[in-house]
Amino acid sequence: MKPRVVSGMRPTGQLHLGHLVGALKKWVSLQDRYDCFYFVADWHALTSEYADTSRIVPGADEMVADWIAAGLDPEKSTFFIQSLVPEHAELFLLLSMVVPVPWLERVPTYKEQQDALRDKDLSTIGFLGYPLLQTADVAMYDARFVPVGNDQVAHLELAREVVRRFNNFFGDVLVEPEPILSDVSRLPGLDGDKKMSKSLGNTIHLSDDADTVKKKVMQMYTDPKRVRADIPGTVEGNPVFMYHDAFNPDGAEVEDLKTRYRTGKVGDVEVKQKLAKALNTHLDPMRARRADLLAKPSHVREILREGSRKARAVAQEKMSLVRDAVKLRYV
Ligand code: TRP
Repeated sequence: MKPRVVSGMRPTGQLHLGHLVGALKKWVSLQDRYDCFYFVADWHALTSEYADTSRIVPGADEMVADWIAAGLDPEKSTFFIQSLVPEHAELFLLLSMVVPVPWLERVPTYKEQQDALRDKDLSTIGFLGYPLLQTADVAMYDARFVPVGNDQVAHLELAREVVRRFNNFFGDVLVEPEPILSDVSRLPGLDGDKKMSKSLGNTIHLSDDADTVKKKVMQMYTDPKRVRADIPGTVEGNPVFMYHDAFNPDGAEVEDLKTRYRTGKVGDVEVKQKLAKALNTHLDPMRARRADLLAKPSHVREILREGSRKARAVAQEKMSLVRDAVKLRYV
C-alpha cells in the first residue's frame, strides 16, 4: 500500500504559471509513488466568497481541466470535490469541540488575510475555522504527506496539534500529517511584483494561446536601466531571466543570453522572443491535453463525480471509526 498524499486548491478558475511551478509540478511528481487524493476546496472558497458564490462551480471545472492539462492523471490519482464528501463537515464539527478558539486566532494567515481582503467581512466563524476545515480534509484520509506552499506551513502545524489533541481525548484515531514543501522559489509577476497573482493581473494562464503568451512576454517588466541594448543589464532578480531559468530547457542558450545581457550585447527583444518560444514549447502539450479534454465537455464532471464517490467511500469508513472513538454509536 502506497502512503497517502492529500492536497486541495480553492477553485479560482484558470490557473497560471505560478500554480504550475508552485504546486502542480509537485503534485504530478507524487502521483506514482503515493496514493494521491487531490480535491477542489469549494467550501474553503466559500469562507471568503460567500457574498458571490456564482464563480465557484465554473471555477472548479476550469481548474480541474488545468490540472489534467498539466499532467495530473485521473487514472493514477483521485480527484474530488470537497462539498460532495459532506463527511468533511462532520469531522470539522467534531474537531471543533476540542479546539480552543485562541489556537485559530493565533494562526498568522487569519489576521493577514483579514487585512489583505479588507473589502470583505471575514469576521465569520467559517473564516476563523478555515485551518480546522483543512485539518479535517487531510485527517479524513489518513494523509501522511500534504504538498503545500510555504504560506500553508502554519496550517499544517495547526493540523498536527489538533490531531494530537483529538487523539488525546479519543484514542489514536487520526494520523498526523506532514507538509511536503514545494522546493521552487516563487515565480514573480510579469510586472516584476514578487508574486504572480490573479488579483494583480500579472499572470500567464496555462490556457493562454501562443500569441497571448508572446504579447504578454514582450510587455514584461525587465531591467528598467536598460533603455538601449548596449547598456549592461542586471540578470539577478530580473523576471525575464527568472522565467528563462524556470522554463527554458536549453541551459546553454540561457547562459549565453545572460552573458550578453550583462555586457550590453543583446537586446531585450531577443531575450523575450526566446523566452516566449520556450514557454510556448512548454505549454503546447498542455494545450493539446486541454483541447482533448474539452472536446467532451462533460468529461471533467464525470471524473469529479467518480472521484468524489471513491473519496466518499474512504471518508465514510473513516467517520465510522471516528464515531466509535467518540463513543457516538447507537446501533
Ligand atoms: N488552504 C489551501 C490553500 O489556500 C487549500 C486547501 C484546503 C488545502 N484544504 C486543504 C491544501 C488541505 C492542502 C490540504 O492553498
